[in-house]
Amino acid sequence: MPEPNAPPPLPPQLLCDSDELLDKGKAHVFDVLHYRSPARAFVLRFEGRLVGYLNRCVHVPTEMDWQEGEFLDGDREWIVCSIHGAAYDPVNGRCRYGPCGRGALTAVEVRESAGKVYWYPSRDLRPVFVDEPAAASPPTPESPA
Ligand code: FES
Repeated sequence: MPEPNAPPPLPPQLLCDSDELLDKGKAHVFDVLHYRSPARAFVLRFEGRLVGYLNRCVHVPTEMDWQEGEFLDGDREWIVCSIHGAAYDPVNGRCRYGPCGRGALTAVEVRESAGKVYWYPSRDLRPVFVDEPAAASPPTPESPA
């Protein structure tokens, strides 16, 4: 049964082409609303799988990338916060060392299908602009103008 006052479910939101995300490469960063406040999130490919998180350090709620989309350390093994060096496991977002204690990054559900990457809104994490499937699909030649 849906929660009272819960926002309506939203469709998956298109982010980028799958081949934009190289393994252990640069992340795709995107805008979201986290509890209705503007925030950023990111998706990256790590050891073949997609992982997505809110771009917000557990230590101090600030963005972590040292350049837009650059989250991994020099060895490409850890997500590292550029502010004080907290290191997170890319697979599950858990703090491994540094001032993040026993915390973990906030996960964002991401998947890929037919060469495209999507994120899945939740009750607490919503898109800034809704990417409705009809609006995201290019018109076909048979479509009325
Ligand atoms: S703000 Fe990220 S480690 Fe301090």
